[in-house]
Amino acid sequence: MKKPNMSFITICVSKKKKKKKSFITTNWPLIGMLPGLLMVLHRIYDFTVELLENSNLTFQFKGPLLSGMDMLVTVDPANIHYMLSSNFLNYNKGPEFKEIFDVFKDVIFNVDAELWYNSRKAAEGILRHQGFARLSVSATRSKLKNGLVPVFDHFAKEGMVLNFQDVFRRFTFDTSMVLITGSDPTSLSIDMPENELQRWMGLGIEKKMLEADDIFYCVCAKYISAKREEVRLQGINHQSPSGEAGRDTIASALTWFFWILSENPNGTAKIRQEINKNMPKSKTGQEKSSLDPNELNKMVYLYGALYESMRLYPPAPFEHAMKAVWGEDASEFKPERWVSNTGSLRREPSFKFLAFNAGPRSCLGKQLAMNMMKTAIVEILQNYVIHAIKVQKIEPLPGLMLLMKHVLSVTITKRDSALLHSIVN
Ligand code: HEM
Repeated sequence: MKKPNMSFITICVSKKKKKKKSFITTNWPLIGMLPGLLMVLHRIYDFTVELLENSNLTFQFKGPLLSGMDMLVTVDPANIHYMLSSNFLNYNKGPEFKEIFDVFKDVIFNVDAELWYNSRKAAEGILRHQGFARLSVSATRSKLKNGLVPVFDHFAKEGMVLNFQDVFRRFTFDTSMVLITGSDPTSLSIDMPENELQRWMGLGIEKKMLEADDIFYCVCAKYISAKREEVRLQGINHQSPSGEAGRDTIASALTWFFWILSENPNGTAKIRQEINKNMPKSKTGQEKSSLDPNELNKMVYLYGALYESMRLYPPAPFEHAMKAVWGEDASEFKPERWVSNTGSLRREPSFKFLAFNAGPRSCLGKQLAMNMMKTAIVEILQNYVIHAIKVQKIEPLPGLMLLMKHVLSVTITKRDSALLHSIVN
């Protein structure tokens, strides 16, 4: 019997107007529910939530005849647990998935069975290696010190508007490249030509993002093929553990995180308090020299805020903040949700909080990603005040990664001068 393929890619329908709903969910002869899907494509994530809330968390989508688009969409934790964990072997990604993502060839995300198992073992060996963990900490710190901080200082001094999403994409791109190839392409750097800096600013950004992606893939290809060649010459058959696995997921998580913080000054203040308590600045104004992962783990509220932002805006958008799963306040940003009565981190099962996937195919880079993101957040919140530009459209770009469709435009003030300003005024 053909094994079912897993698919959480969600397709959806509106509940607002009854008439519209019945049209959108109508399964037309030959074309299935495609017309309805096209009508809601522009707000696919919101529609998904509405549809699944109204369909007992599971919905059967019918695509056009013979198109292979029929899907059972579910966000029911019990189903997710069943498919991703207890009956994992029966739920392959399958040939259709591979066909859609053929461009990725045989990377770990795209393969099943023995090929997946071997790739996972190889990736695990690298990602869990102490040396790799140390390298990732030093690469992150060095990128903050030599890339992000000078750029932030420059934009703060000039009072210019900065595209935060692009900054984080460059930040994670450079760091990933150091981890994968050992070379830093310095895409996040103050030494970039002025016209490059101009690209970061607001206008016509969607086109610019596409151009930036083209440049990204060219640069990536250059570095990776150089590394492959080097490795081939050494006679080693090596596959990168994650390719660029972390680039857009981390950039997405950080962008949405800072957007949510800009809307929640109380949450920001609480994180700052926690940072001050755990990493007080020395008398000379310098922060404590190490951002040790163990020290970062002590900051439970920060942990909760980051999880909460990923619960609301999961970088790989397979799940949604459903009331039936998270309660009536499901759509609110409440880092406290993750803090237990004793002040420790409240753990939720991965089939409920699916941001890093669940079961045997769960994310291998979770720890690395959390450390990298928390390190960047601490650096930024300790030293800068971020002001999101008030009039801007914030909406997700439908896709495999939950990036923002338009940029996140912000201005930056250095914290010392921000404090001085508030005292003087
Ligand atoms: C916020 C950051 C990240 C998020 C939210 C995230 C999320 C995910 C998700 C949802 C999957 C399952 C994908 C699928 O099966 O289709 C996954 C798999 C994976 N992730 Fe991540 N990821 C992040 C960062 C990273 C980083 C930084 C690395 C490596 C350095 C990494 C390495 C991997 C690998 C190797 C897999 C494949 C696991 C397998 O199929 O067995 N991830 N991740």
